Amino acid sequence: MPITNEKPSDQKRIVASLLSECRVPTPGEAAMLMRRKVVLGAVACSALSPALVACSSGANEQDVARALRRPLAGDGDRALLMRELVRYATLAPSSHNTQCWTFRLQDQAIVIAPDLSRRCQVVDPDDHHLYVSLGCAIENLVHAALSVGLQAEVHFDPAGLGDITVDLKTTRASVTPLFQAITERQCTRSDYDGKPISNEELRLLLRAGTGNGVRLMLLTERAAIEKVLEYVVAANTAQMADTAFVAELKTWIRFSAAEAERTGDGLLSGSTGYPGMPHWLGSLLMGLFYKASSENERYARQIRNSSGIAVFVSEANDKAHWIEAGRCYERFALQATALGLRNAHLNQPIEVGAIRPHFASAFDLGNQRPDLVVRFGRGPAMPLSMRRPVQAVLV
Ligand SMILES: Cc1cc2nc3c(=O)[nH]c(=O)nc-3n(C[C@H](O)[C@H](O)[C@H](O)COP(=O)(O)O)c2cc1C
Repeated sequence: MPITNEKPSDQKRIVASLLSECRVPTPGEAAMLMRRKVVLGAVACSALSPALVACSSGANEQDVARALRRPLAGDGDRALLMRELVRYATLAPSSHNTQCWTFRLQDQAIVIAPDLSRRCQVVDPDDHHLYVSLGCAIENLVHAALSVGLQAEVHFDPAGLGDITVDLKTTRASVTPLFQAITERQCTRSDYDGKPISNEELRLLLRAGTGNGVRLMLLTERAAIEKVLEYVVAANTAQMADTAFVAELKTWIRFSAAEAERTGDGLLSGSTGYPGMPHWLGSLLMGLFYKASSENERYARQIRNSSGIAVFVSEANDKAHWIEAGRCYERFALQATALGLRNAHLNQPIEVGAIRPHFASAFDLGNQRPDLVVRFGRGPAMPLSMRRPVQAVLV
């Protein structure tokens, strides 16, 4: 069917057919419906359709995201090199992709500080995720610096304002597999293949994800994974019933690649498997169709088709340990990427304050704080998330 000559009657026919057969639209049908932006029922019916994602998140729309992940440059030009190190740091994950950081360049150091204007007060009232995100950025910076012959030493003063100073001293350059994984890493919210991973891979993940006062539990037994699922469902149900949580989340959702490119931050809905659409439509549909039951079904399926679950646990509940947890998680994510493994967060049980202690005691953690819950396994990549330009994070 030629999509340029569609008539309203064609749209109605497609909608009627989608709704009655409850099926996914073909790419041609999806394009026609998206072009007209008028048929809410049909878009809702197809809201979980990977076919529509493919149609609405085309190759060109990912060019900007790929360009952000270009190789490190700056050979011989110190000023450019320092900016390039910052660019690599910003490729790190951050909660809701808030990129809650600023960078200050010094002669022999880079200072990373929290950007409190990007806090998420509802989901992260004590700034735990914010400092974990800073830790992720530091870890990228450490590996990028080493690749160009700079040894990074990280200093954090718990009594200070939250600044983290990364001193850079000349050393022999080393291009590690973790460095090479920085531009490939993503939080991948796709279905995984459900197959176990080898003991050697588990050993490497464990080594990468363990740090100073932070340990990593790798759960691969089905009973333990089902226990995590129970807590994810309970906490996700609580979060989705919390209007303040949903409202805050919505401010960080970018419903189309164009919107994500404009802001350079936020959660690209295509990265979760939802179709791209204009903001007004996405916002409307989210209010109508974003329900705990369907989200919980997706989590159950995706937890069950993961090879395992990683839980990061801090010895002490303070900023220094949250930063260290971020560094451990990022090393884990980079090591996973280097092995061809994917990972995605399931942090609901540690985000809901009333559930976190129960989750901790279900896994015998005593008074220790579970920092992050992450599934891992093998699966297809998803569209890449955006980043703001280096200029926007330099102060
Ligand atoms: C501290 C922290 C908490 C996060 N929590 C979640 C989460 O609960 N659910 C989720 O899907 N992703 C979560 N993420 C992943 C971010 O959404 C992701 O890093 C961001 O969207 C950028 O995408 P990228 O990592 O693929 O580049 C978290 C990341 C960090 C660092």
